[in-house]
Amino acid sequence: MKTAAQQAPIQRAGEAAGAATGQAKAHDVVLQVRDLAVDIRTHRGTVRAVNSVAFEARAGETLALLGESGCGKSMTAKALAGIMDPVCDLADGEIVLKGTDLAALSAKERLKFAGPELGIVFQDALTALNPVYTVGTQLGEAFRIHRGLNAKQARAEAIDLMKRVGIPEPESRVNSYPHQFSGGMRQRILIAMAVALNPRLLIADEPTTALDVTVQAQIMQLLRKLREEGQMAVILITHDLAVVAEEADSVAVMYAGNVVESGPVSEVFADPRHPYTKGLLESVPVHLERGAKLKSIAGSPPELHDIPAGCVYQSRCPLVQDICRAERPVLRPAAIPSGTEPRPARTAACHFSEEINNV
Ligand SMILES: Nc1ncnc2c1ncn2[C@@H]1O[C@H](COP(=O)(O)OP(=O)(O)OP(=O)(O)O)[C@@H](O)[C@H]1O
Ligand SMILES: [Mg+2]
Repeated sequence: MKTAAQQAPIQRAGEAAGAATGQAKAHDVVLQVRDLAVDIRTHRGTVRAVNSVAFEARAGETLALLGESGCGKSMTAKALAGIMDPVCDLADGEIVLKGTDLAALSAKERLKFAGPELGIVFQDALTALNPVYTVGTQLGEAFRIHRGLNAKQARAEAIDLMKRVGIPEPESRVNSYPHQFSGGMRQRILIAMAVALNPRLLIADEPTTALDVTVQAQIMQLLRKLREEGQMAVILITHDLAVVAEEADSVAVMYAGNVVESGPVSEVFADPRHPYTKGLLESVPVHLERGAKLKSIAGSPPELHDIPAGCVYQSRCPLVQDICRAERPVLRPAAIPSGTEPRPARTAACHFSEEINNV
């Protein structure tokens, strides 16, 4: 196991400030992911579902993981949270949270260390909640396990949490069961469970997909409020570019299990450096100039059994050349971020990232 002292210090100053105040300082790097790879064992052999994934999440900021269905977003989230399906293996990489590499910990060490520091929310709140326990019991669990509170104290904490996430009449509703709440309220309960112990990192995997549009906006507003209150780093998983533009500070664009581009949202969307990002942007109306035509990206992503050598995007790329078929481009610095704030680096995995906006 690598301890904080053995790790290269990612954010020493921030760690010290966080320890003193109980909170991370805005913009401190909370999570750094490097070279993450996840394999799936299938009846047709082992396939790599997540490959060379790298990004960082900062305190008080939202990082969006963006990409089409099947590109490995949820798999990445589950690998970070240590809750992968039994057929999946962490094949490579570092998941450095608060200076400690979670990938190098045993399951037990990881639960003890990361349990209170990392919360995760999924799309489907009904299946994520246990139907046979009251929400009070489920909300109180984290306090009993990690803080050693008794049932009465845990219930009081559960009521406080329900207030924090905007559930009306928490004193009586704490005794209700999940099916007695609306979809939006259930999602609030799931979010409350995820933030119960004031984690440094919250992962939200398509948290509003199953909800009505008006409820979606309320849940996003709640996530923003909680992020600001706790200076949490939030990783927001979505396939929706408008959500990324509205909610996120930085973005990592995924394609066929790989991060193909990352950086501050405003810069990546204004000046994409990967043809896939450019294609995605051209397929949504909000980014079009007047009179321009909506384009969709022809073709579909490769099957996991059939990922080509070379660039993963080659079969759909308008710029493809021989080198793209022969050599997998690695994520490398793509452009200098502007401004003086500490900003995430811009990266792209394309042999022609400097030229894509000239075509
Ligand atoms: N248990 C599993 N067994 C086999 N393949 C799986 C398993 N779980 C996921 N996959 C495959 O791994 C790839 C990545 O899946 P993942 O769920 O991470 O995609 P995603 O980006 O979250 O997509 P979506 O937007 O649809 O949620 C997909 O090709 C998927 O079919
Ligand atoms: Mg998913």
